[in-house]
Amino acid sequence: MNKQALEAIAQAMVANGKGILAADESTGTIKKRFDTIDAESTEDSRRDYREMLFRTQDAMKEHISGVILFDETIRQKAADGTMLTQLITDAGSLPGIKVDGGAKDFANHAGEMITEGLDGLRERLAEYHGLGAKFAKWRAVINIAEGKPSAACLAANTHALARYAALCQEAEIVPIVEPEVIMDGSHSVERCYEVTTEALTQLYAQLAEQDVYLEGTILKPNMVVSGTQHAEQAGVQQVAEMTLDCFKKCVPEAVPGIVFLSGGQSDEDATAHLDAMNKIGGLPWKLSFSYGRALQAAPLKAWAGEASNVPNAQAAFAHRAKMNGLAAQGQWDASLEG
Ligand code: 13P
Repeated sequence: MNKQALEAIAQAMVANGKGILAADESTGTIKKRFDTIDAESTEDSRRDYREMLFRTQDAMKEHISGVILFDETIRQKAADGTMLTQLITDAGSLPGIKVDGGAKDFANHAGEMITEGLDGLRERLAEYHGLGAKFAKWRAVINIAEGKPSAACLAANTHALARYAALCQEAEIVPIVEPEVIMDGSHSVERCYEVTTEALTQLYAQLAEQDVYLEGTILKPNMVVSGTQHAEQAGVQQVAEMTLDCFKKCVPEAVPGIVFLSGGQSDEDATAHLDAMNKIGGLPWKLSFSYGRALQAAPLKAWAGEASNVPNAQAAFAHRAKMNGLAAQGQWDASLEG
């Protein structure tokens, strides 16, 4: 394992005022996103959309340290024949790759999921490394409901995350470990705190047991928030305080950075929560973003599948990237949203 190389990549991923663009929607998920704007999802339309994002220079150069790609995208060329990974690299950003095979029904546990994709992963990582991937992502899904998550769900998912992380480091690829406690449900913010604490505790126990080098990893967690169906919704300050309280108990100081997923939060909530945490400050790790929807919802809507809308869509992406870049430094203010 080349610890120095891994550490340098991880540090670059959480450089000041920068975060990750999660553009790794599977073919099924991106189709759902395109359905909302009445755009057809084809290899070319997916390429056009993503090329538009990666060519947004003010966003990419100033605020996006890395981009998580899907298998199709890491092999794709821009309309002019340039590799999409080259566009990302030219903007001073790092290409990354989603390597999990998706969350599938967990046997004997109705309503729970297990992430697949370990078989053949060593060989796939070697290929992705050759295609320029500097980091990877693996997402585990943890649902909250009556009697859920089960002990088996947490054990199986955190074990798989650690096996994935070890294989990444062997291939000189920084693993983003993503245990996502899902927002959907009628649970309270306290219950989210409890489950997130348990998931992170088990994750770091597994990573330690499998000798994963924490300085060469990045954590991608949910924030501690109220279930979407819960009657009382925790406010921005409470979310920030409870999330940090949870992480201080569970996340070792050796971890260089934590980049949040947005998980269905509104664009502005995702920004406000990140900002509030960084305003509290005094933290051992960098705190930034790895947003999918909270970075892409605005440009996707502005684009609407029309080439003539590209400038507006790029402006919308640049704006969200800038807002989140400020939030990553605790320098955002609602008045900047305009
Ligand atoms: P969202 O920010 O839309 O939750 O996506 C981030 C991601 O990569 C989920 O795995």
